Amino acid sequence: MDRSIVTILCWVIVCFVLVLERFSPVSANSEGDALYALRSNLADPNNVLQSWDPTRVNPCTYLHVTCNIDNSVTRVDLGNANLSGQLVPQLGQLPNLQYLELYSNNISGRIPNEIGNLTNLVSLDLYLNSLSGPIPDTLGRLQRLRFLRLNNNSLSGQIPVTLTTISTLQVLDLSNNQLTGRIPVNGSFQFFTPNSFANNQLDPLPVFPPTPSPSQGL
Ligand SMILES: *[C@@H]1O[C@H](CO)[C@@H](O)[C@H](O)[C@H]1NC(C)=O
Ligand SMILES: *[C@@H]1O[C@H](CO)[C@@H](O)[C@H](O)[C@H]1NC(C)=O
Ligand SMILES: *[C@@H]1O[C@H](CO)[C@@H](O)[C@H](O)[C@H]1NC(C)=O
Ligand SMILES: *[C@@H]1O[C@H](CO)[C@@H](O)[C@H](O)[C@H]1NC(C)=O
Ligand SMILES: *[C@@H]1O[C@H](CO)[C@@H](O)[C@H](O)[C@H]1NC(C)=O
Repeated sequence: MDRSIVTILCWVIVCFVLVLERFSPVSANSEGDALYALRSNLADPNNVLQSWDPTRVNPCTYLHVTCNIDNSVTRVDLGNANLSGQLVPQLGQLPNLQYLELYSNNISGRIPNEIGNLTNLVSLDLYLNSLSGPIPDTLGRLQRLRFLRLNNNSLSGQIPVTLTTISTLQVLDLSNNQLTGRIPVNGSFQFFTPNSFANNQLDPLPVFPPTPSPSQGL
């Protein structure tokens, strides 16, 4: 009798733990880990990342980080923070991130392919850094992106045609890099002027004869 009660109690506890695990916000911890991985890879002479403490329950109390009501990170605001070092692939583990603002720092190295996993991203501002290597094709998966500013870095290679599929894109600045090859002209790219691409080693855009456009009044 006693034994069977103990057995039943054990099962109840096991079920309870399993249910808890299923519904606990596991993401809070992995998001803190992702941001801590970034902190660990950056030099931070002005100590702007001092509050990014991996022992906290979630990263929502970190300075320069904003979360939604479910304690999931939606913004990282670290423009003009005098940071140097490299970005980390773990940044792709912030599923609700909408604003990644890292402009005007001294960040070098590549843009991780994993940034393309941030499918809720609205703004990717990495301008005025020392980033090199290609613009990842995976950025074409950012189908909610409105602002993509990668200007004033040392990015090379071609402009991924996948970017033309981002119909939400409103502001694109790839100027002042070392990009080569053709500038796509279809999809969202039909709305961007040469200013978006200035000061690269891109092929010159073909010049079309001027045609009267009904949208000229805009
Ligand atoms: C940026 O950091 C460097 C050290 O890496 C320091 O010499 C410089 O004063 C800092 N600049 C600002 C504006 O804080
Ligand atoms: C980058 O670092 C250099 C010196 O290492 C410093 O003079 C410059 O102000 C830094 N740039 C930014 C945007 O912090
Ligand atoms: C994140 O992106 C990388 C590289 O693009 C990919 O290999 C990986 O499967 C992605 N992870 C998730 C969870 O989507
Ligand atoms: C970006 O780079 C260009 C060319 O080097 C330079 O003229 C411009 O001042 C830079 N922009 C900023 C905001 O520093
Ligand atoms: C633009 O053209 C390229 C091929 O040149 C294609 O891969 C891409 O999907 C096109 N974009 C759109 C939005 O149709």
